[in-house]
Amino acid sequence: MKQNETFENTGKSPFLQKHATAIRIWHWLFFATIAFIIITVLFESTMFNPRENASMVQNVLKEKNATVTEERARAVAHEYGDKLWDLHKLLGFGLSLLFIARIIIEITLSEEEKFKTRMKNALFSYRQNTENKSIFKLYVIAKYSYSFFYLLILYMATLGLLLAFGNKLGITRPVHHFIKDAHGFGQYLVYAFIFFHLCGVIFADIKHSKGIISGMVNGGE
Ligand code: HEM
Ligand code: HEM
Repeated sequence: MKQNETFENTGKSPFLQKHATAIRIWHWLFFATIAFIIITVLFESTMFNPRENASMVQNVLKEKNATVTEERARAVAHEYGDKLWDLHKLLGFGLSLLFIARIIIEITLSEEEKFKTRMKNALFSYRQNTENKSIFKLYVIAKYSYSFFYLLILYMATLGLLLAFGNKLGITRPVHHFIKDAHGFGQYLVYAFIFFHLCGVIFADIKHSKGIISGMVNGGE
């Protein structure tokens, strides 16, 4: 939406914008990668939890008339968890590359389609419009939430890469633990964004911006 196009004179919701093909492909690849990353975390803390699986290993071996110490059983259970973390790491590299791809896409987009321009227009429209102030407020909030999310992904990817290459970088054990905790904490902010994002687009599609979701598939308008 250009700066002189208001909600009133175009009759169109500010949310109903064109999305470049590159953005749409990027969005769904990003969605799939994050979804798989979350699945690895979910599996690790449930089905592949080493603490719970250690007793399972001990019990299965007991049935076969073999006994192992809890420590050894835990080492076996850990192997499966480690495989999942390897997958998590691989997907994490993919996510980091997608983050870089988003920056490259931003550079190649037309001035009107750039995130920076849309952010500026969002604020401009919000300040200019006296009617429909609430929809422009939501629009500004949505754009800010994307900026926050991109910073969050930068944070998660940086810490994730530090965990992945910690050995080579000579990161000490206590620092590694600190980074792991900080990375682990970030997951809750990612879940919060996804929850509010999904609620937001579904609410917008039903209430005031019918077609916003299909626009992320077919380009909109
Ligand atoms: C935004 C999506 C991400 C989420 C929700 C997420 C979540 C998590 C969680 C919950 C852990 C366990 C932390 C703990 O045990 O305290 C973890 C570990 C880890 N993450 Fe991520 N992560 C994400 C992105 C990434 C990225 C982009 C990378 C980059 C390579 C990465 C690499 C790692 C590594 C190497 C570990 C340590 C695994 C191990 O214990 O061997 N993660 N992540
Ligand atoms: C892991 C889940 C998801 C993540 C991390 C995510 C992330 C994002 C991001 C970062 C943007 C801003 C793109 C930009 O302009 O730079 C965006 C926009 C959008 N997403 Fe998602 N998304 C997810 C899932 C979904 C799903 C499932 C849908 C559809 C039901 C959806 C629909 C949309 C729509 C319609 C927009 C454009 C909204 C607007 O212009 O304000 N997203 N998403």
